Amino acid sequence: MAILVTGGTGYIGSHTVVELIEKGKDVVIVDNLVNSSIDVIDYIKQITGKTVKFYNLDIRNEEALDKVFKENKITEVIHFAGLKAVPESVKKPLEYYDNNLTGTLVLLKVMRENDCKKIVFSSSATVYGNNGEIKYVETMERGKTTNPYGTTKSMIENILEDLYKSDNTWGIVILRYFNPIGAHSSGLIGDNPNGIPNNLMPYIQRVASGKLAELSVYGNDYETKDGTGVRDYIHVVDLAKGHLKAIEKLEKEENGLNIYNLGSGKGCSVLEIINTFESVNAIKVPYKIVERRAGDLPEYFADAQKAKKELNWETEKTLEDMCRDAWNFAKNH
Ligand code: NAD
Ligand code: UFG
Repeated sequence: MAILVTGGTGYIGSHTVVELIEKGKDVVIVDNLVNSSIDVIDYIKQITGKTVKFYNLDIRNEEALDKVFKENKITEVIHFAGLKAVPESVKKPLEYYDNNLTGTLVLLKVMRENDCKKIVFSSSATVYGNNGEIKYVETMERGKTTNPYGTTKSMIENILEDLYKSDNTWGIVILRYFNPIGAHSSGLIGDNPNGIPNNLMPYIQRVASGKLAELSVYGNDYETKDGTGVRDYIHVVDLAKGHLKAIEKLEKEENGLNIYNLGSGKGCSVLEIINTFESVNAIKVPYKIVERRAGDLPEYFADAQKAKKELNWETEKTLEDMCRDAWNFAKNH
């Protein structure tokens, strides 16, 4: 009896694997290492004392994936594997649609053939699109997405809904993440993107370590508390624990399709992040204000009530924890 984690050597996947192992769960990882390193398997061992079973494969390889199910008794799947860089998805739409959609379709088919019908899917707040509301609640319609990456998330949610309509013996949990940042307190695993980062926290980490000269703050003339963009940042370890709650729900219940926001419910500005990072780590993050970034929304955050009520999950870590742990990881890498 094991939980299959696709994309389990990635940023959120690795933290989730640690939480699962620490709760005594058996885990099998599949990952093609397109955006992660095999070293993560060793880091997971250093943190948990367990060597996790790992398959280096692309989830679009149906035969190889089927073999994983034949060799292990997989009871649930947590599906992280996918490409996630928004600007890259605009440049390479076919690659993104192929990887994210084909990967998911092959996975679902192999699951059905092996009579494993419980899945947790990594979705994103991006599926709410630009509909004018600031506090996103699960009862809102999915909005219009603005890039191929976001569209793959919206389409996969649709696919899962159609699958459930066709066969209500599936148990499906869709988790819509807000902005995951931070790292494991060991400093061994964290977010370390290749090349120049697009996202705020990895960029701050590179500036703090002197690898990049200064941060560009994309606009200070939004109608927000201090003019800079506001998001709902969530510590990756809190996020990982949300997956454990989703798995516990699937273990208890026979079937159903449920969608949950995983966020703190609070909005935080770019300047608040910079100030907190500087003060908890006693390090300067030089920055300049530049033009708004195309496609950015001024402000949004989660309504986090549903996950609290139904999964008994809420965020525990503070912005200080996120900034301290992110820097602790970055210093070591
Ligand atoms: P990540 O890139 O660190 O992890 C994804 C992992 O999937 C990587 O290890 C990569 O090698 C693997 N992978 C990709 N395509 C694969 C394939 N075809 N076969 C096998 N493995 C494959 O990303 P992450 O930040 O850990 O995100 C995990 C999931 O959460 C993704 O689906 C992402 O879209 C989603 N998500 C992330 C964020 C975020 O801000 N990090 C926000 C919302 C949703
Ligand atoms: N920002 C800067 N400078 C930077 C990077 C970001 O000022 O160098 C600002 C942005 O303008 C925004 C905030 O910091 O106000 C957060 O930006 P991120 O790029 O870190 O995150 P986004 O909210 O833009 O994007 C995230 C995920 C996407 C997902 C999207 C919507 O990275 O995968 O949320 O949910 F699609």
